[in-house]
Amino acid sequence: MLVIGLETSCDETAVGIVDDQRQILANCIATQWDEHKPYGGVVPEIAARAHLDHIDTLVKRALAEAKTTLKDLSGIAATCGPGLIGGVMVGAMTGKAIAAVRGLPFIAVNHLEAHALTARLTDNVVFPYLLLLVSGGHCQLLLVRGVGDYKLLGRTIDDAVGECFDKGAKLLGLPYPGGPAVERAAMNGNPEAYPLPRPMLGREGCDFSFSGLKTALRQLTEHNAGDKNFTADAAASLQAAIADILTDRTKNALELLQNENEKIAALVVAGGVASNQFIRTHLAELAAMYHMPFVAPPPALCTDNGVMVAWAGLERLRLGLTDGLDTAARPRWPLEASLQTSS
Ligand code: KG4
Ligand code: ZN
Repeated sequence: MLVIGLETSCDETAVGIVDDQRQILANCIATQWDEHKPYGGVVPEIAARAHLDHIDTLVKRALAEAKTTLKDLSGIAATCGPGLIGGVMVGAMTGKAIAAVRGLPFIAVNHLEAHALTARLTDNVVFPYLLLLVSGGHCQLLLVRGVGDYKLLGRTIDDAVGECFDKGAKLLGLPYPGGPAVERAAMNGNPEAYPLPRPMLGREGCDFSFSGLKTALRQLTEHNAGDKNFTADAAASLQAAIADILTDRTKNALELLQNENEKIAALVVAGGVASNQFIRTHLAELAAMYHMPFVAPPPALCTDNGVMVAWAGLERLRLGLTDGLDTAARPRWPLEASLQTSS
């Protein structure tokens, strides 16, 4: 089985090809950072146009990299949501057009499911597992019971964690994209320099909150701008606060599952923020406390990529879950609803 996957939901145009032996045959990506940099964030119209400019070339490049042709594919998968709708439509329409012309099965992939299943490609993790999904638009704890079978344990009640990194970076005068910039700046800073708040810490349940942290950082920048070590110390303090929040809420989820006698195979982290080394280390320590394997895909497969879409497509295809060419692109698409979309 050979599946190609198209990803266009945010600011990366990406195409990947995988097979059912868990081999990555192609991983092509065109980031749009330079196009969005002047605005300090993703501009949806610019993103959609850039996807349109790059997607055909990337499909060709991926096929060449995998030394294959469209006629050898078993299926074509494309992210159909959630995401910036203009961009999602570009990938979805391209995927459907190729599927129609070549008579290939089409798989409408939920972007969150693509992140959620990546650990099965990279580390062969078996179901069920606990997933901390941390990206630019989401922050959720999920029990992953199977393909299309997710139980939401907790989620953010305000901002997504990646958003907290991105807005925090902007406040600190660090470049876009904010997450990697904060991580780099934090390497030279003291994580205990500023005691930033950790909303929800110690509270029951598995929900997250980040807006109070952002407000506190804004106030901090107003009072400390100009201090030579400020940016590095504030970045390190922000990163430490976020890591504490993520670890505390994940600990509650592990407790909850333990109390419910739910045997899980691993603690898995996925999504762009999962590429953060400091956060990975904290989560690995937590997993070790619970004698639980910890799985974090390689950083390049945590941030958006086409390989994860191809893999989610392959997982669905081998269960016979394909989609009609009338499947709509959608800006919102909760993971719990992903099974019902298949025809
Ligand atoms: O999964 P992703 O690539 O796109 C979405 O689906 O949203 O996640 C992007 C988010 C951005 O907010 C970005 O700042 C954050 O992931 N991110 C990081 C790091 N690399 C990317 N956050 C913290 N540390 C990083 N190294
Ligand atoms: Zn993503």
